[in-house]
Amino acid sequence: MSAARGRFITLEGGEGTGKSTQARRLAAALEARGYAVAITREPGGSVGAEALRQVILSGAAKDFGPAAEALLFAAARADHVDSLIRPALDAGTWVVCDRFIDSTRVYQGVLGGLDAALLDDLEQVAAAAARPDLTLVLDVPPQVGLARAAARGEERGEEADRFESEGLAFHGKVRDAFLALAKAEPERCAVIDAAGTPDEVAARIWDVVAARMWRPAPKRQAAKRRGTKPR
Ligand code: TMP
Repeated sequence: MSAARGRFITLEGGEGTGKSTQARRLAAALEARGYAVAITREPGGSVGAEALRQVILSGAAKDFGPAAEALLFAAARADHVDSLIRPALDAGTWVVCDRFIDSTRVYQGVLGGLDAALLDDLEQVAAAAARPDLTLVLDVPPQVGLARAAARGEERGEEADRFESEGLAFHGKVRDAFLALAKAEPERCAVIDAAGTPDEVAARIWDVVAARMWRPAPKRQAAKRRGTKPR
């Protein structure tokens, strides 16, 4: 008998919004409640896509323009979906992904000025087999996000990457574009205030996940049969 399909949750937002930390926290919270969870990221998440990540974030493809970058992101995504995301969902595993299609729509679409029809086509090729069930858009003012990203880079001894090194105006537009996208797709997206401590943000995220995604895991189905509340 095949397992129920897993659910697919993506985290999106600008630089330094805490997506990676919150992806780990969310995966741990879901695992603690009995779900099998795969945590992953874009660009990357599979061997082929991680190789493309190096090319893209080094800035090596910048001179070829946003269309070429979009093709590289799409190629990375296709490999990631085929080799990791789709098999995991089919096996009943939940997938928590740090960035996905909305990052392309914002960075290559709104900021890069690429035609929405081209991006729709690329999305169809790369991601038709894995549509997010829920997208959490983590939101902080760009000044706060960039300061966090810079502090993190310093801690790790890393240079700012291709997109982090863009100016404040760019990151302000990234924020506005994510908020507009969330507003246009309220069924799928929820905006999370990502200011405050990781604990505070994790609690806000859990409230949204619990409200929107609830489906009993085996543990909870047993609790229900005994007539107890699943939460
Ligand atoms: P991050 O993993 O540190 O968030 O860096 C990934 C960078 O790549 C980030 O600046 C956003 C950018 N990006 C795109 O421009 N398009 C995409 O489709 C994805 C997934 C990321």
